[in-house]
Amino acid sequence: MSRTSLAIAAGATTAAAVALAIWIRRRTQSSGTCPLVIRAAVKDDLEHLLVVAGLKDGVGKDITGDGGDYVKEAWVEDWWTRDPRTHFNEFAFIGDLAVGFARCDCFGAPERIESGWLEGLRVHSGYQGRGIMHRLQAHLLCSLPPIVRQQTYLAVGSTNTQMVGICDGGKGRPRYEYIGAFVMHALELPKPARPADDGSCTSTLHVRILDSSEAAWSFFASHPLHTEHKPSRLLLPARFYAFRALTHAAVADKVAGGRITAICRGGTDRGNEGVLALFVNFDSDHKGWPLQTLCSFHTAYFTPGLPLEELRAVLLAFGRSRPTALHSGHPNASSDDLTPGESLTTILVAGPCDNKQPDSATDVEPKLSKVLAAAHFKRSRDTHLRVYKVP
Ligand SMILES: CC(C)(COP(=O)(O)OP(=O)(O)OC[C@H]1O[C@@H](n2cnc3c(N)ncnc32)[C@H](O)[C@@H]1OP(=O)(O)O)[C@@H](O)C(=O)NCCC(=O)NCCS
Repeated sequence: MSRTSLAIAAGATTAAAVALAIWIRRRTQSSGTCPLVIRAAVKDDLEHLLVVAGLKDGVGKDITGDGGDYVKEAWVEDWWTRDPRTHFNEFAFIGDLAVGFARCDCFGAPERIESGWLEGLRVHSGYQGRGIMHRLQAHLLCSLPPIVRQQTYLAVGSTNTQMVGICDGGKGRPRYEYIGAFVMHALELPKPARPADDGSCTSTLHVRILDSSEAAWSFFASHPLHTEHKPSRLLLPARFYAFRALTHAAVADKVAGGRITAICRGGTDRGNEGVLALFVNFDSDHKGWPLQTLCSFHTAYFTPGLPLEELRAVLLAFGRSRPTALHSGHPNASSDDLTPGESLTTILVAGPCDNKQPDSATDVEPKLSKVLAAAHFKRSRDTHLRVYKVP
């Protein structure tokens, strides 16, 4: 071997050794054996959250799809107003620097929480991809009561390719179990509404607020989304845009809050006899997202196999039953920041749709997609929410 070749080989070996040393140093500093300290968050930790989410230096990611992150607003206005028994919040630190945050919001009575929703997962931009969330989340999950741990879900916007990649995992090895896609549609009734002109059979349908949790339970528990899938793909809407597990208590909460509207065939007004669909209201209304007006969110559960015309009639009947202004009987009317009489938009969240591909064009079930527009429900945005279960 010539002198030159020897010199090149030696140089290459040295460069490789240096690169390996840097890589090992980085790994040990920020993951693996690094002194990562995990502790429960307290209300005064907002500053740490802003650092972790990149909201202090402006490098934070567009999480909502509208150009921002909701965590600061949620921390101040929502998360720390809750019973401490219903949410678990943890920070990961390296030295004094907060590098990770994760939270689980729980549903059910505070003394009997039963399912959870992972949210606000954030790792400092300089420390991503080094296993910090893996460790923080494992720690957080261990601190949850076992019943919640078995029923914990999370969601990610379809445009968040980084997190969608993490959730879907490698080929054939998904990290989380996919429940499906959910897509928002805003009700835009024509003015003036002329019910007689649309040629539908809504006049034979009966709309009522369900007052029996047994009737609701028997509808949900026998629904194919629940009986034919493991894990169940039938989730109930919870606070804001979160979902909770289908349980007796969750159904009873919804019924007690007057949040389940049944659309039935005429003449059947007891139990779940003749029920064609149930529309379930989320626990919170929201103003400023996805529209500027106050929005009331719902999901829908249809009796399987409804013909297209009946499906359309059901949606029309629900749409016509919806108030367009906040009134005293509205489930959330007592909330301080809502003004009686202010305009109210109904949002129908269609889902779950089993689109395995994140960018699938069919993120709404094809049959439902055909009738939503005809029933005046207009898609609010191109994206969808991908909901997963933590295995
Ligand atoms: C998403 C985020 C929380 C992940 O945190 P992180 O510390 O970078 O993630 P980790 O390094 O712990 O990776 C977690 C796991 O996902 C895997 N992973 C990481 N990036 C991945 C990718 N692009 N595709 C597939 N898997 C990936 C890792 O290998 C690791 O797997 P393992 O547990 O089997 O080792 C972080 O990157 C972040 O804050 N992003 C911006 C905010 C955000 O999008 N949050 C989620 C909102 S829903």
